[in-house]
Amino acid sequence: MEFQAKAASPLTLRTGTLVLPIFESGKLPAATAELDKANGGLIAKLIKQGDAKGSLGHCYNLVNLNDCKAERVLLLGFGKAKDSLSADKFDKALTKAASAVKASASKDVSLHLSDIDVEERCEGWKARQTAKHFTNALYQFSQLKSTKAPAISLKKGVYLVAEKGQTKAIGEALKDGTAIGAGMSLAKDLGNLPGNICTPKYLTQEAKKLARGNAKLTAKALGEKQMRDLKMGSLLSVSAGSVEEAQLVIMDYKGGKKTDKPIVLVGKGITFDSGGISLKPGAGMDEMKYDMGGAASVFGAMRTITEMQLPLNVIAVVAAAENMPNGNATKPGDVVTSMSGQTIEVLNTDAEGRLVLCDALTYVERFKPKAVIDVATLTGACVVALGKHATGLYSNNDELAEQLLDAGQNAGDKAWHMPLWDEYQQQLDSNFADIANIGGPGGGSVTAACFLSRFTKTYDWAHLDIAGTAWLGGGAKGSTGRPVAMLVEYLQQQAL
Ligand code: BES
Ligand code: MN
Ligand code: ZN
Repeated sequence: MEFQAKAASPLTLRTGTLVLPIFESGKLPAATAELDKANGGLIAKLIKQGDAKGSLGHCYNLVNLNDCKAERVLLLGFGKAKDSLSADKFDKALTKAASAVKASASKDVSLHLSDIDVEERCEGWKARQTAKHFTNALYQFSQLKSTKAPAISLKKGVYLVAEKGQTKAIGEALKDGTAIGAGMSLAKDLGNLPGNICTPKYLTQEAKKLARGNAKLTAKALGEKQMRDLKMGSLLSVSAGSVEEAQLVIMDYKGGKKTDKPIVLVGKGITFDSGGISLKPGAGMDEMKYDMGGAASVFGAMRTITEMQLPLNVIAVVAAAENMPNGNATKPGDVVTSMSGQTIEVLNTDAEGRLVLCDALTYVERFKPKAVIDVATLTGACVVALGKHATGLYSNNDELAEQLLDAGQNAGDKAWHMPLWDEYQQQLDSNFADIANIGGPGGGSVTAACFLSRFTKTYDWAHLDIAGTAWLGGGAKGSTGRPVAMLVEYLQQQAL
């Protein structure tokens, strides 16, 4: 879907659907009031009757209106008529509007939102979020069904601006939102693909595909032989029981100056996590195809920043492997040696994410990074702690943590700062190796982060545990595309 900014009066615009705001109180913003007047008070009456509720995100469609060139008018509720609205509420209303327009036969949509003030956000933010929400609403994953989903008629969006002078800046914001949506779509596709299709080698192919035709982006991958030469004994211990060869996928985006230190993104890419010899229970095990959600979000972010042509250097490293049990598989109690030289007692083969990440985190030291951010569906304990709303954020640098928290707030893709205190470290003590790969029953998300911290001492580092945010289960089962928006927002801030 393509978005453009236009300075036009909403009621004279020829469009499939015109989105106009209303409030629960019945107070009408200017353009809505004008339309109401031209139609004998129809809108005020509908609100009074409770048909058009005006409650947050409520949608009510009108047709055949006087003095209006739109085929339909969608009255979009923004809740109580206060002077201003929270960013979260704006996002909620626009998500609902996008679904409603998608479900209609409308070929294009025009939004008149200049009367809606969002707390601490500018018009550009509203435009970017709007383009992102519409792109997200149009996402569908039907490539594995023999009957394709019916085509969606909605193709074009217009974001109305009050003055012509705003068109350029709002146009850029709309492009950004569309690019973020496209990155999220890629992350969703990779996440939704099953483990028998999206294998480690598939991710390598995907990286090469992304780099094709992009002068600033290159992609390569190391196979198991090369990883053995690098002494990545920890990563290789995870793929030992799988017939799929592990891959270390490396994408290099050079948008900055040669001398600019790169920001490095590291993604957990377990294309299926059976638990290995510490086999998981059967119920819901299919969802462990999403255990490459960290990798997927890193792919998505790379897609967005190449599209945006951000002026900075970013390197993405994806540790891709399949965690399976067989005769060669790593067993509980086995001791492996990581690339860093630290030995690890594998007490539970289901704590495999940290085992692939630690070697990737040692590998990226060679890039002399400005900062390293790893993204991983790392622990069920993080889901217990934060549910599906917030990503768990850990960092060895408070400034980096703040930057990521802010980015999450601004992008509507929130994280919550978790402790990385020394007190937790002793839970990883092992009688037989330098460190154990599990830290006992308490604070499972924290001890997993503590494990990673042993391998990130030479640079500023943050860890995003997206176990709760990467996908939704139940009837709405599917990838969310998180935290692409947070990562892109952070990178955009770093590029300023
Ligand atoms: N991929 C899982 C974490 C996970 C579980 C994410 C459920 C989302 C939903 C990870 O590899 C894992 O199995 N972690 C174990 C660690 C434990 C053995 C210390 C877990 O969380 O149970
Ligand atoms: Mn696991
Ligand atoms: Zn896992």
